[in-house]
This record gives sequence, structure tokens and C-alpha cells, in this order.
Amino acid sequence: MAGHHSLCILHPSLGFLLCFILIHSSLAAINEPTELVDKVCNQTSNYTFCLESLYSDSRTPDADPYTLAFISFGLAYTNASNTRDFIAELLKNTSSQDDRHHLKRCGHDYQKAVSALEEAYDDLNSETFFELAKLAGHASKASDHCQAAFKGTSSPPLARRNHDLKSLCEIGAIIAKLFTGSS
Ligand SMILES: *[C@@H]1O[C@H](CO)[C@@H](O)[C@H](O)[C@H]1NC(C)=O
Ligand SMILES: *[C@@H]1O[C@H](CO)[C@@H](O)[C@H](O)[C@H]1NC(C)=O
Ligand SMILES: *[C@@H]1O[C@H](CO)[C@@H](O)[C@H](O)[C@H]1NC(C)=O
Ligand SMILES: *[C@@H]1O[C@H](CO)[C@@H](O)[C@H](O)[C@H]1NC(C)=O
Repeated sequence: MAGHHSLCILHPSLGFLLCFILIHSSLAAINEPTELVDKVCNQTSNYTFCLESLYSDSRTPDADPYTLAFISFGLAYTNASNTRDFIAELLKNTSSQDDRHHLKRCGHDYQKAVSALEEAYDDLNSETFFELAKLAGHASKASDHCQAAFKGTSSPPLARRNHDLKSLCEIGAIIAKLFTGSS
């Protein structure tokens, strides 16, 4: 994704022209988000998280709404399936019955999230947009339900992951609305 342009300035005391080649790295891109990304991320609860997440994909600087939808639902899907697998690993190491009970509930939640996001991905592939926001909502609710399982626990083990999935689903739902026109 590296493009470049040059910048020349006249150095006042040396009296000559200094030219720099500016490389547009992904860091430059994130500081100058596209109008589309800016519009989407501006509607989320965490603009920085939204930018960082979307720009973790090299297609984002050139993405149209359709590509951006694939990117956001892809990120949410990867997040959910990583966490589902992580929960299965945690269960292998956990002997406390209470913790096992909570983790099993979360495993179930994350399986639901993965299924919803898979369905969203299939919908995108067939250019079917009307259920995308609802499916993102299902996945988001699953993360809430998992988080609630550890209510009252001093360091809930999946808090960060639940929060990340919720935030990614929020981005997906906002992009989905670009297609259905409701906002
Ligand atoms: C960003 O959001 C704020 C309020 O949430 C709004 O006032 C502003 O117009 C928005 N900017 C863009 C570029 O959408
Ligand atoms: C927003 O997201 C950024 C990047 O992920 C994070 O560092 C920051 O703590 C988040 N802010 C809030 C209020 O959650
Ligand atoms: C989930 O997504 C966030 C934002 O893109 C990322 O920072 C985090 O590492 C991901 N977590 C997992 C477990 O994939
Ligand atoms: C489970 O325990 C093994 C051995 O102690 C450790 O290597 C692994 O990181 C643990 N997995 C998780 C998810 O905590």
C-alpha cells in the first residue's frame, strides 16, 4: 500500500531547496483516513479503536463500502473464532466448577457469535445486506451475555475480548446501514 509524493521546502538560511520523498505507510493512512472510514468510525463509540482495527487490513485505504463490510465482518469473525478456541483451551486448564460453568456459557455464546458472523459473511458474498446489522447485533449480544456470566468477578478473564468483539460488531452494524439506508 506504499504510495509516495515529494515535498519541497526552501530552507531560509541555507538558501536552497530541500526535497523529501514522503512515503505513505499504513501509519500515514491511519492519520489520514478516507472519507468513508472517517464517516463510519465517527459513528462508533471509540474512533481510535475503529481506525486501528480497519487499518490493520491493507485493503482499507482503497476500500469501497462493500470491501469495508468484508473487512469489518472478517475482523469480527476472526475475533470470535479466536476467542471460541481460547475458551476451549481455558476449559482444559480450569478445575473450579464455578469457573467451568461460566466458561461453558461463554463457549456457547461464542459459538453463536461465530455462527452469526459466518451467516453475515455468506450474506455479503451473495450481496444480501438486509440482515447484516441484525447478525452483528446477535454476535454483540453474545459477547454481552458472556461478560455477564462473570459479573461480580474481580478480573473477568474474557473482558478485553468481549469488549473487542462488541466494538467490531458495532463497526459492522454501522457499515451494514450504508447499504440499507437506515441510520
Ligand atoms: C462526527 O460526529 C459528530 C457528532 O457525533 C458530528 O457532529 C460530526 O458532524 C461528525 N462528522 C462527520 C465527518 O461525520
Ligand atoms: C479506544 O480504543 C483505543 C485503541 O484500541 C484504546 O487504547 C482506548 O483505551 C479505547 N478507549 C476507550 C474509552 O475505551
Ligand atoms: C480482536 O480484534 C482487535 C481489534 O482488531 C485486536 O486488537 C485483537 O487482537 C483481536 N483479538 C483476537 C483474540 O483476535
Ligand atoms: C493451559 O496450561 C498450559 C500448561 O500449564 C499452558 O501452557 C497454557 O498456556 C494454558 N492455556 C491457557 C489458555 O491458559
